[in-house]
Amino acid sequence: MRIAVVPGDGIGPEVTREALKVLGAMATGMEVFSFPWSADHFLKTGETVPAGAFDILARDFDAVLAGAFGDPRVPDGRHADEILLGMRRRLDLFANIRPVRALDDSVVAIRKARASDVDFVLFRENTEGAYSGRGRVTGAGTSDEEAVEEDVTTRRGVERICRAAFAFAAAFEKPRRFGRRPRVLMADKHNVQKRGGGLWHRVFCEVATAFPSCESRHLFADALAHEMVLNPASLDVVVTNNLFGDVLSDLGAALQGGLGLAPSGNVHPGRTSVFEPVHGSAPDLAGKGIANPFGSIRSLGMLLAHVGRADLAKRVESAVAACVAAGETTRDLGGKLSTAEAGDAVVARLPGGKARGAGRAPRASARARRAPASPRRRRAE
Ligand code: NAD
Ligand code: IPM
Ligand code: MN
Repeated sequence: MRIAVVPGDGIGPEVTREALKVLGAMATGMEVFSFPWSADHFLKTGETVPAGAFDILARDFDAVLAGAFGDPRVPDGRHADEILLGMRRRLDLFANIRPVRALDDSVVAIRKARASDVDFVLFRENTEGAYSGRGRVTGAGTSDEEAVEEDVTTRRGVERICRAAFAFAAAFEKPRRFGRRPRVLMADKHNVQKRGGGLWHRVFCEVATAFPSCESRHLFADALAHEMVLNPASLDVVVTNNLFGDVLSDLGAALQGGLGLAPSGNVHPGRTSVFEPVHGSAPDLAGKGIANPFGSIRSLGMLLAHVGRADLAKRVESAVAACVAAGETTRDLGGKLSTAEAGDAVVARLPGGKARGAGRAPRASARARRAPASPRRRRAE
């Protein structure tokens, strides 16, 4: 098994290092190859991604672990477009799968909700929509300046992401636990975007008929944002377009404890796919050794499941959950650990690892740590 790694910019390399530490600790025998594509590399060499790189990824690697891309020294984000959006488009990774799963009551952002209420998966269309790159500006610099961004929706694009969402839902274990049918919710704005939204709405309804074991539901994207905060427990699988999916997945990250925890996969089933935390390069944290590596480590978990090692994926998710429950976290979650220490804590919580503080008095329960005196809560007030 060969894994390509593209750590990228800012905190990307810092969090990716910890994910690789976790991979190394599991002694999988997987080979890891690192690629330098980043703002640094672009500024030094003028190259974003070398010719043929995407073909090499698809041909020679089973999966890719990416860090983050974006650097204030490249204000137009050209390298990020060519590396990150390049991988998504050129490898045809049409499903951006972003789980919203809280690992512990202590990190749930909503006062009335518990971790068990925050457990759904967002399927974001990943190859078209507002990310088409098409558009034009006329009258630049004049008082008549007009900018047009083309938001492109195709039947093929909508159909395949809707099918992927329903297929995932039909096998999703969570609704079974509650003894009910899986729910797939599609969010668009077909009340305003009559062309693209209309296509989404029609195709979603068509695909739904092929999955009678699932319930289907529609909300406008603005109403979904409201539902995510006030009633996240109603959601199993959400499917939406590229731009709504981008925005709603940061909201989803907040629900599950913040961007530091949120994982994602850019997936084309059966093909080389790219796994990365939802967060960006966080220039405000870069170089300080304090970024939370759990989003990257959980993305490694998704990668492992994608390459057929669901057993290892479960171990990784359980180890991260155990760290969160024990308060072994970076400061964004109210802990005291550095990025590297948080990675060590996950390694120690893997089967056979030696957990921090083992043998010491047990800590206060997770619920108790949500009390107003907790560092996290205090900061928020
Ligand atoms: P960001 O996700 O980098 O940061 C948003 C906020 O979340 C910041 O306060 C940051 O400190 C915090 N945060 C992010 N990751 C964290 C972590 N691991 N631990 C603790 N806190 C964390 O978003 P931004 O500031 O809007 O963007 C910064 C750069 O990253 C921009 O260039 C943007 O284009 C890029 N970006 C890249 C990706 C990606 O590569 N997938 C995703 C989002 C943004
Ligand atoms: C994400 C990011 C990217 C996106 C940016 C960096 C282009 O925000 O992965 O969520 O908009 O998809
Ligand atoms: Mn985003």
